Amino acid sequence: MARPRFHTLRVTALRHDTADAVVLTFEVPDALKPAYRFTPGQYLTLRAEIDGQDMRRSYSLCSAPDEPGLQVAIKRVEGGVFSTWANAVPRVGDTLSVMTPEGRFGLTPDAEAGRCFAAFAAGSGITPVLSLMKALLAGEPGSRFFLFNGNRSTDSIMFRSEIEDLKDRYLSRLSVFHVLSREEQDIPMLNGHLDADKVRRLAAMLPPVDHAFVCGPQPMIEGLPAVLTEIGIPHVHVERFTPSVDGRPRPVAIAAGAKPAAIATIIHEGSRVEIPVAEGEAIIDAALRAGRNLPFSCKGGMCCTCRAKVVEGKVEMAVNYSLEPWELAAGFVLTCQSRPVTERVVVDFDQV
Ligand code: FES
Repeated sequence: MARPRFHTLRVTALRHDTADAVVLTFEVPDALKPAYRFTPGQYLTLRAEIDGQDMRRSYSLCSAPDEPGLQVAIKRVEGGVFSTWANAVPRVGDTLSVMTPEGRFGLTPDAEAGRCFAAFAAGSGITPVLSLMKALLAGEPGSRFFLFNGNRSTDSIMFRSEIEDLKDRYLSRLSVFHVLSREEQDIPMLNGHLDADKVRRLAAMLPPVDHAFVCGPQPMIEGLPAVLTEIGIPHVHVERFTPSVDGRPRPVAIAAGAKPAAIATIIHEGSRVEIPVAEGEAIIDAALRAGRNLPFSCKGGMCCTCRAKVVEGKVEMAVNYSLEPWELAAGFVLTCQSRPVTERVVVDFDQV
């Protein structure tokens, strides 16, 4: 697994998809093409200095791997500093710092397969699903795709015309149902939210589904996977779109002369450095405070970019939405979520 890296990429196209969402396309120079190869469902982390602060946010790729350029959609969220900036400031020709693709959500097309896919997306949760739909329908001529797309109203549907174009291109293999919460439609089943009860009834009308994709905010992520598994779908892929910040460690200052709660030795790119960690502080925050440039993105336990292995001592993680059981068993942790619980810990970012 290659470690993620930031490179400077040029914005070659910019389009306002809805009143509060912008789609940015980045050009990848030939020399960097191998580093930016991705599977549908992965995301990019963008980095910018906004009001003097180094900020990073992750956005799912909505382009398919064989399309020219990398495309992400950024929906403006209330109080969201990065998304507000991204919707207003970048222009075509500007350059941005963009991390190589990351993420475990998604699936690689298999040309020989004849599979049935169902996706349940809400709001900007459509972005990785769009990439998956394009890649799977083009790459698996024998497969079908059912999309259930939840939004407030017709004018808030992201990629509405692109989804319509796909429907026309794959008439017999792509079925699209928009579920709207604030706009009455003729079919009662398509009014309201994509909650567990509705999804149970919608999924019951489908032919046997091999893979289901669930992309949306917390309540959807909590309710739907169990329902889909219960009705017999063998593979359920989940991508969380809003972080749960409850209990997440925060950067904590250490008063001059005060004893830190722990000393963490950080191994990164072959070098070793010791940093003090305050009581309740996450290792990545302590390292950043000490001026170390370590990989991170969501700081919400979702993206796995801050993954490292604890090779000495113990830590406690607040949340984990991305590490697999085998990684936990092998000692890997999310350093954005990890507080040391022993006086000394050694954390190795170079272990894969
Ligand atoms: S930075 Fe995303 S899981 Fe830690």
